[in-house]
Amino acid sequence: MEIGIAGVGRIGKIHLENILQRFPDIDVTLVADPSEEAAAYVHEKNLNFSYNYEDIVGNKEVDAVIVCSPTNTHADFVIDAAKAGKHIFCEKPLDLSLGRVKEVLDMVHHSGVKLMLGFNRRFDPNFLKIKSMVSSGKIGDPQILKITSRDPGPPPISYVKVSGGLFMDMAIHDFDMARYIMNKEVAEVYAKGAVLVDKAIGDAGDIDSALTTLVFEDGTMANIDNSRKAVYGYDQRLEVFGAEGMLKADNNFPDNHQYYGTEGIHGSLPLNFFLERYTTSYLNEMDAFFKAIKNNAEMPVSGDDGLEAMKIALAAKISIRENRPVSLNEI
Ligand SMILES: NC(=O)c1ccc[n+]([C@@H]2O[C@H](COP(=O)([O-])OP(=O)(O)OC[C@H]3O[C@@H](n4cnc5c(N)ncnc54)[C@H](O)[C@@H]3O)[C@@H](O)[C@H]2O)c1
Repeated sequence: MEIGIAGVGRIGKIHLENILQRFPDIDVTLVADPSEEAAAYVHEKNLNFSYNYEDIVGNKEVDAVIVCSPTNTHADFVIDAAKAGKHIFCEKPLDLSLGRVKEVLDMVHHSGVKLMLGFNRRFDPNFLKIKSMVSSGKIGDPQILKITSRDPGPPPISYVKVSGGLFMDMAIHDFDMARYIMNKEVAEVYAKGAVLVDKAIGDAGDIDSALTTLVFEDGTMANIDNSRKAVYGYDQRLEVFGAEGMLKADNNFPDNHQYYGTEGIHGSLPLNFFLERYTTSYLNEMDAFFKAIKNNAEMPVSGDDGLEAMKIALAAKISIRENRPVSLNEI
């Protein structure tokens, strides 16, 4: 299979390195990125490079594209790739406008190409295990899900301004995780948000802390706790409580040593951020993408999954603005 990659910033580099090292039967035909830094990086790897994404789309050899460029390019890039008959892996989110996402999904659907969205956490070994145990009925009917998702530090204000906000940029992973673990749709969203970390985030029109309650169609619930700054590192935990028991996934640590001293017992801080914490998930999601193409199977994360998570994010925004629970039917 021949692929093209658009954008080799933080996440694009992860996917490119994974493909080069772990997928010998995948050829990286072309990498496109307008930046000089990217050009130097790609040339160092002896790969073909272009400053223009159109060169990937126009390349007849390319079977699939991996879109890792900034969010505001995703919708156009996905449409162009679909028109050219190329399968697509696109980083989240597809776009910040619901109307535009629906337009893109319609277009992709009619083109017949496969589209996978980059909700990588579904492929994390901790959460995969919990998902499979919930699905096999180990804890009976799941009733309450709790997700803790806190970053080690906020992104630059320039990023905050174009990110779509905490719900669309950060919590969207947690909204997808909630749907994935509970395996049902969200009916209602009630969110509270605040600026507790950095006033500049508030000045930029966003929040940096949030508590969101999701009520699923059958009355079961999830609670999601987000912060842009946890001083002890990347805090990614999950707990599902069911009629027959409870399942939980703790943080991952670089090692499991413990130091016993006069002031207590101490260990390492959690792995610092997504690039370290979710290494395996990025590898697994690429594997799933390539396998779905080779086996002509359904993509494990669809464009519709992206749409549903986005609707929850939009409902959470409205909930804060209007200080009320918001039904997903309103979105
Ligand atoms: N799934 C995840 O865990 C995860 C993590 C980080 C980012 N993301 C998503 O990935 C996307 C990229 O984020 P990032 O943090 O890697 O950003 P980044 O700024 O580090 O990298 C973006 C890259 O895209 C390049 N680029 C800009 N315009 C382009 C164009 N027209 N064509 C091709 N390349 C272009 C930039 O030069 C840069 O190299 C965002 O949509 C973000 O939401 C997902």
